[in-house]
Amino acid sequence: MASASWDHTVRIWSLGDGAQQVLEGHSQNVNGVAFTPDGRSLVSVGYDRELRIWSLVGGTPTVIMLASPLNAVAVAPDGEIVTGGADGKLRFLMSAGQQSTEVQAGRTPIVALAISSDGTSVAAAGMGGGVAVIDRKSRSVERTLVDPDPPVWSVAFLADNATLLTSGADGKIRRWNARTGDPIGSSLQATSRDPLAAYAGDHGAEVFRACVACHTLSENDAQRAGPTLAGLYGRRIASLPGYRFSDALKRMDIVWTPETVSKLFELGPNTYTPGTKMPEQRIGSAEDRKALTDFLARATSK
Ligand code: HEC
Repeated sequence: MASASWDHTVRIWSLGDGAQQVLEGHSQNVNGVAFTPDGRSLVSVGYDRELRIWSLVGGTPTVIMLASPLNAVAVAPDGEIVTGGADGKLRFLMSAGQQSTEVQAGRTPIVALAISSDGTSVAAAGMGGGVAVIDRKSRSVERTLVDPDPPVWSVAFLADNATLLTSGADGKIRRWNARTGDPIGSSLQATSRDPLAAYAGDHGAEVFRACVACHTLSENDAQRAGPTLAGLYGRRIASLPGYRFSDALKRMDIVWTPETVSKLFELGPNTYTPGTKMPEQRIGSAEDRKALTDFLARATSK
């Protein structure tokens, strides 16, 4: 088994005894790994824009620098490599790493990828909830399925090459007919829900849309990649029980208030809280920061 980690490493695990081999070289978060069909190599991609092909018997990896931070990778049965970027593009590379074509799959960052087992179709899920189904031979986007509750964090084809599964922040798995784009089953209407629906027209809630993929406003919602912001103001940094904060955050001495949250996004997490695993993002306008911190005061107080 292989794992990609935001600690910048790739690890290969023996399923027999749990022994691990650590592959180092990426300079930023590693977001995707995939074995090649011959089982001899592992491909990894990261925020550092690098695609690395590691031989499992050792030696120096092949490193290819691409034009966008990379979020996902998959390898087709014939060895072709496909990677999805933060620019919404899929990039196709030959098995040795030579680049061939690019396809614009959507407007939002691609966060998950899958290739059907017959190698004909690629599914690429975007941060905004659109899942593009691409014909691999013609490199054309055949259709885009729209998941009602973005983001979709993972996609997979069933062995019939026609049924696509998507799953995401809402904790549901949805089934789709990838050839027609139609949902299968009835879960679709039943679970569609915008966590910010109650705040329609609130400017601060619109600013918070940039956060909603990773943070909930209520302790009752299933945990996302970041800690819940319920009860944020007055809380010491990295003190929420049950969430695994980075060690860097645990050593800091900050109490969350409208002022400190505003500072966090004025300077950016990497500057205000160096070593954080929250991705770098800034809110340039003081007015937007004020709207956000006012919104958090209303939406996160218990
Ligand atoms: C892609 C995911 C992601 C996005 C988007 C994101 N965060 Fe975070 N955030 C995290 C993670 C992960 C942590 C924990 C960091 C750590 O432990 O190093 C975190 C930590 C925080 C903390 C510190 C919480 C605590 O209890 O100490 C605050 C405050 C915060 N985020 C606010 C926001 C706000 C406001 C936004 C939107 C403007 C936002 N985040 C966007 C992932 C994200």
